[in-house]
Amino acid sequence: MYSSLWLNYTKLTLSDEKEKRLSDILSDVFFIGCDPENRICKSIKNEIDTAFSTIFDRKINIEFSDEDRETGLSLKIVSKEKLGDEGYRIKTSEEGFVIEANEYNGLLYGAFRFIEMLRLGKLTEEVNIIKTPDNPLRMLNHWDNMTGDIERGYSGNSFFFEDNEMIINDRTVMYARAVASVGINAVVINNVNVKGEASYLISERHYENMRKLSEIFADYGIKLFVSVNYALPMEYGLDSADPLDERVIVWWNNKCKEVHENIPLLGGFLVKADSEGRPGPFTYQRTQADGANMLARAIAPYGGLIIWRCFVYNCKQDWRDEKTDRARAGYDYFRDLDGKFERNVILQIKNGPMDFQVREPVSPLFGGMEHTNQMLEVQIAQEYTGQQRHVCYLIPWFKEVLTFNTHMKEASVADIVSGRVMGNKNAGMAAVCNTGNDYNWTGHDLAGANLYGFGRLSFDTSLPAEDIASEWARLYLASAVGEKSFENINGKTVVDTVTDILMRSWPAYEKYNAPLGIGWMCVPNIHYGPDVDGYEYSPWGTYHKADHNAIGRDRTESGTGFVSQYRKENADMYSSPETCPEELLLFFHRLPYNYVLKSGRTIIQHIYDTHFEGAEEVLKMYEAWKSLKGLISDDVYERAASRFEHQVEHSKEWRDVINSYFFRKTGIKDDKGRDLY
Ligand code: GCU
Repeated sequence: MYSSLWLNYTKLTLSDEKEKRLSDILSDVFFIGCDPENRICKSIKNEIDTAFSTIFDRKINIEFSDEDRETGLSLKIVSKEKLGDEGYRIKTSEEGFVIEANEYNGLLYGAFRFIEMLRLGKLTEEVNIIKTPDNPLRMLNHWDNMTGDIERGYSGNSFFFEDNEMIINDRTVMYARAVASVGINAVVINNVNVKGEASYLISERHYENMRKLSEIFADYGIKLFVSVNYALPMEYGLDSADPLDERVIVWWNNKCKEVHENIPLLGGFLVKADSEGRPGPFTYQRTQADGANMLARAIAPYGGLIIWRCFVYNCKQDWRDEKTDRARAGYDYFRDLDGKFERNVILQIKNGPMDFQVREPVSPLFGGMEHTNQMLEVQIAQEYTGQQRHVCYLIPWFKEVLTFNTHMKEASVADIVSGRVMGNKNAGMAAVCNTGNDYNWTGHDLAGANLYGFGRLSFDTSLPAEDIASEWARLYLASAVGEKSFENINGKTVVDTVTDILMRSWPAYEKYNAPLGIGWMCVPNIHYGPDVDGYEYSPWGTYHKADHNAIGRDRTESGTGFVSQYRKENADMYSSPETCPEELLLFFHRLPYNYVLKSGRTIIQHIYDTHFEGAEEVLKMYEAWKSLKGLISDDVYERAASRFEHQVEHSKEWRDVINSYFFRKTGIKDDKGRDLY
């Protein structure tokens, strides 16, 4: 059992003239200049049929023809006007609507958007929208293991794998429809930490299912990708994985040929090498470029891509070593390789230099490289942001990352990963995915907004986070009302309340989490719940160095020097505590607790205040949710309510553990005299 996410079409009560007219217009659909046998075209036809016949509760007449029509809805493949790769246009015609595109992917996105606009009540008399996706690749990375569990999965088990076999069923199709509806065009189905049976996903054992899956994905314009183990040749008996060893090169060449023969629609490989115990080219004193390029050359004849992760760092750093800084690692390993990668290699870079903390600066690799394909990696699996038990809508955070000015040719991160700056097509955005086989796919119903939002944002990076939230709320909760009418849910209360909760959630989470950009005050390994000194006394090496006098890492020139990895304007900004954005103050500076912030508060008072405020905010969000009882379906209401119950308690725990830690470390009392333990 699974929900239809935001695609649960419900019957529209035709309450006014406009809706009755729409119902008449949309009961005739014409595919003009389209191939009825094209796989994507078939999906579009099915979708339109299902959507309109449910929404209007009547039979839809669908025809293929070569002649233009003035009435009804026409879906057209056009060649004269250039609408861009995967782009579309939606416009009004004489007596109806037209969706145009140059190819079927564009038509698919246009059709989904059209249905969405219809459901949102946005189909007005005069529509004329042209949209080409901002990012060429819009990708989801699943960290699913073939055993069925999911690394950092918080919503059940995998729906791709179970007991070392692949699962392909109606849920697979539902998944493809849902993610395609928001513009996703590439999916990696397995964990970057390739273990056990997953090494054999590209072998006889799984070719047949892989091919089937790639075809289901292709029906919805999605390319299937697979994570591969860099040392795969060794699993098959070679004694080396040295990228310059002729035997290794030949092995990969043969493998890629065989893979192409068996899964011709495969998009390529995602690789995590030399990271957290995974093998890589460093074992043979080769560079990351040597490793990536060897694979890239092997897969190039089949149009494949190698997506190479930059999450390379030494995870066994001694606490006495003041110079080694995990934040520096990505840049130190990759910056000098700029321009040395094959054209079908894309470097996939996490948004920050550490690891998906609730707040980090943007990775300096963005802006550091001018001649290399780059992709932004974000995480909607809420590993460090409440594990889908806390509500934490991440789109506002991703918007901040995308709009960050790297000062490399004044380009923002969005300019770089869209390919606009370098004119490259191998670029885009990827998200570590938050789904599992729970009924609602994402554990917390409100976490569905991150899945929907990532797709929409990667397609159109200019969309405001708030608009995405309210559209999702309308589409999803409309499906959740069941028997109740569409108008009721279209009513402002529910949508406004949910949007407001979503927009408040990330700032609230940040307040009760680790302060001022320092990060990492969570329980090691599981990354849930407060444990201020957990990582401080673990060999993993992500130290905050709080003592009774001061807190923070000095990452300026006089410290680890991390700051100099940025372009001058940003390096200058971060170098001084006066100009460093305060939400990142302790990421870049080591400061005494009585340092006075712009608010006039000391650091210690800021810690106390924000932690009290954060927990308060959660209470308010829960109160707001309670006001929706009876207005949305009981199922959705109850599921989220029980998570809010937990979040209320857990945010208090965060508040109390963090506050009492700093109270006892510093001996400084709260100005406002609140309870500190
Ligand atoms: C984090 C996460 C791991 C994951 C890794 C990665 O460290 O905790 O589970 O494997 O990121 O991105 O590769």
